[in-house]
Amino acid sequence: MFFQLPLRVFLFSLIALDVLANASPTENTNGYRLARGLPPLPPREFGRKKPGFEPTPVLRTRASPSPSSVVRYTGRLQVRSSDGSTIGYVQDKLGLPVSGGSDLTISMTASSTRKKQLNIVATTASFPSPFYLGASNQGSGNATIGTGSSTFLQFSNVQKTDALSQPVRVKSGNGDTSVESAIWAINSTTKELTAQYVNPDGSLPNTILVYNDANDRLYFVGDTAAFNTSVAQVNLFVVN
Ligand SMILES: *[C@@H]1O[C@H](CO)[C@@H](O)[C@H](O)[C@H]1NC(C)=O
Ligand SMILES: *[C@@H]1O[C@H](CO)[C@@H](O)[C@H](O)[C@H]1NC(C)=O
Ligand SMILES: *[C@@H]1O[C@H](CO)[C@@H](O)[C@H](O)[C@H]1NC(C)=O
Repeated sequence: MFFQLPLRVFLFSLIALDVLANASPTENTNGYRLARGLPPLPPREFGRKKPGFEPTPVLRTRASPSPSSVVRYTGRLQVRSSDGSTIGYVQDKLGLPVSGGSDLTISMTASSTRKKQLNIVATTASFPSPFYLGASNQGSGNATIGTGSSTFLQFSNVQKTDALSQPVRVKSGNGDTSVESAIWAINSTTKELTAQYVNPDGSLPNTILVYNDANDRLYFVGDTAAFNTSVAQVNLFVVN
């Protein structure tokens, strides 16, 4: 009797060890793997199509817009009258006349996330900087345009300003000049440029581009009739 119990325990232990020893190599459950610090098995249904169910597509969100959504426009600036005939091209000359020199070339970048209030940069400027093309009150002028007002801004080479910025005052030969550069939008089909100026009080006036053939210059006005009935409203296009 004295030896019987330990012997039984011993035999039972041998059987138990044998079972464990035989079972261990073939066991490949997650519990087994987890106890040994192994990663769990992939789910059995992983990647398999169940009848009646389409696999769920994995949607990836982009951190930034793809480069293909950025469009760069380069070329010359063609001035057309409202009947569609060509008046001329913006010239590579101080004052940016429409004839009498060589054509200015420009560059602008539009993106799917920012279609409006773009900058136009002069790329072949033979005049001194700044090289952005926008609106300027040329020193003493009233920087506010609007309906019923005869005030105007010159189409000029100006310093770079932020989109939807009010006019920024910069030092110039004849005192302070108020300028805005990021006022442009481009129609991707017709390549027509349109402007939206921001008044000093933050209001957004009609911004009409006009051509004065008396001095061969372009201006922005808020009211064509009030400014001067002898100037003509024109359209501006980027062309090759
Ligand atoms: C500037 O023009 C606006 C109208 O466009 C007018 O209301 C304002 O009084 C003018 N400012 C000056 C200083 O003449
Ligand atoms: C671009 O111009 C065309 C022709 O005038 C016009 O039909 C279209 O609506 C314009 N696109 C935008 C975004 O203004
Ligand atoms: C209007 O412009 C013409 C030239 O296009 C000029 O001769 C005339 O003096 C201007 N009138 C006013 C009121 O500015």
